[in-house]
Amino acid sequence: MGKIKKSDKKRTRKISLFNHKGGVSKTTTTFHLGWMLAKKGYKVLLVDADPQCNLTGLILGYSASEEFENFYLKNPDVNLKAALKSAYESLPKLIEAGEPVEVAKIKNLYLIPGHINFSEYEITMGIAQELSSSIQALKNIPGAFSFYLEKEIEKFQFDFVLIDMNPSLGALNQNILMTSDYFIVPTSPDYFSKMAIDSLNTVFPRWKKWSERAQSMYELDNAAYPFPKGYPKFLGTIIQKYRPRNGEATEGFQSWINRINESVVSEFVPAMYKIDMLLDRKKYQEVRKDFTDSYCLVQIPDFNTLIATSQEHQTPVFALKDNMFGHVGAILQQDQKKRREFHRIFSKLAEEVITLTDA
Ligand SMILES: Nc1ncnc2c1ncn2[C@@H]1O[C@H](COP(=O)(O)OP(=O)(O)OP(=O)(O)O)[C@@H](O)[C@H]1O
Ligand SMILES: [Mg+2]
Repeated sequence: MGKIKKSDKKRTRKISLFNHKGGVSKTTTTFHLGWMLAKKGYKVLLVDADPQCNLTGLILGYSASEEFENFYLKNPDVNLKAALKSAYESLPKLIEAGEPVEVAKIKNLYLIPGHINFSEYEITMGIAQELSSSIQALKNIPGAFSFYLEKEIEKFQFDFVLIDMNPSLGALNQNILMTSDYFIVPTSPDYFSKMAIDSLNTVFPRWKKWSERAQSMYELDNAAYPFPKGYPKFLGTIIQKYRPRNGEATEGFQSWINRINESVVSEFVPAMYKIDMLLDRKKYQEVRKDFTDSYCLVQIPDFNTLIATSQEHQTPVFALKDNMFGHVGAILQQDQKKRREFHRIFSKLAEEVITLTDA
């Protein structure tokens, strides 16, 4: 791994991609968005905070468990669990920044790999987050993740940190989301995504209340890893127009897209406004005037066969090279057309994210 050069841009934006519904393209979007931001010249860190390690597998090209095992054996300190170990296992050693993995095929894109056993920390975090009488013993846990990212940012001056999360409402996700600067909610156009977003209208106010309490506690303020101040702001949703794993048939997409957009505008956004988890209204209008109709940043069509090619080459669909498609003539021309279309979509998404998070 070569030495990482510092970027000259200053303010870092930590964005989590969250939906407790599985298979809505959180991981795929984290990878594609991160790559696009890097392509635009930003220095980007991707963090795999999902014990399923799909993002790590996608980037390193691993699918078999032996490949992961080999990686952990060769690089025992290069993963999120190892980075947080001293806090969670009360070791007499401070959390420090490690050297992230350089994503091979593009400059400026880095990864903190996940670890399959990161889920072991879920219970410890759950107890720590109760903020009860045990907090004296566990006071270093709630601020640890954020402290660690700040160390990486301080050392390598990333412009963006994108965090891929697991599909749950667990304590780790609560901590990761509430200590981010911003969050995006990827969704799919179906009943379960609508249910999931609706449930966030009550989950996020609970998380906010918890964070408020954590921010006011003397013990957490004076911990080795102080709990950070502030609340994450909602950037928008992304609608993935493909058939998710075990999903319903693809018909009726538009009706679900409309229903999800409507409930985001009429219920989710007002709920976020009440708990200070929205940006200033003017900020959304910088992206487009009609944000009041929908907070959907982009709709991403089905990649169809390109998804397999993308995974095979650890390259986003919009960055696939001609020779990766394995086609010639008219079929290659169709591939190129699709590539341009996806490039346009992810470029738009990246520009929106840049504008919305611009100070
Ligand atoms: N636009 C798309 N078109 C076709 N397939 C897609 C698209 N986006 C993602 N996929 C595929 O759908 C599956 C789920 O995507 P992904 O793993 O990114 O979702 P996720 O939300 O991260 O899932 P989980 O909740 O399990 O972490 C993957 O096999 C991925 O390759
Ligand atoms: Mg995932």
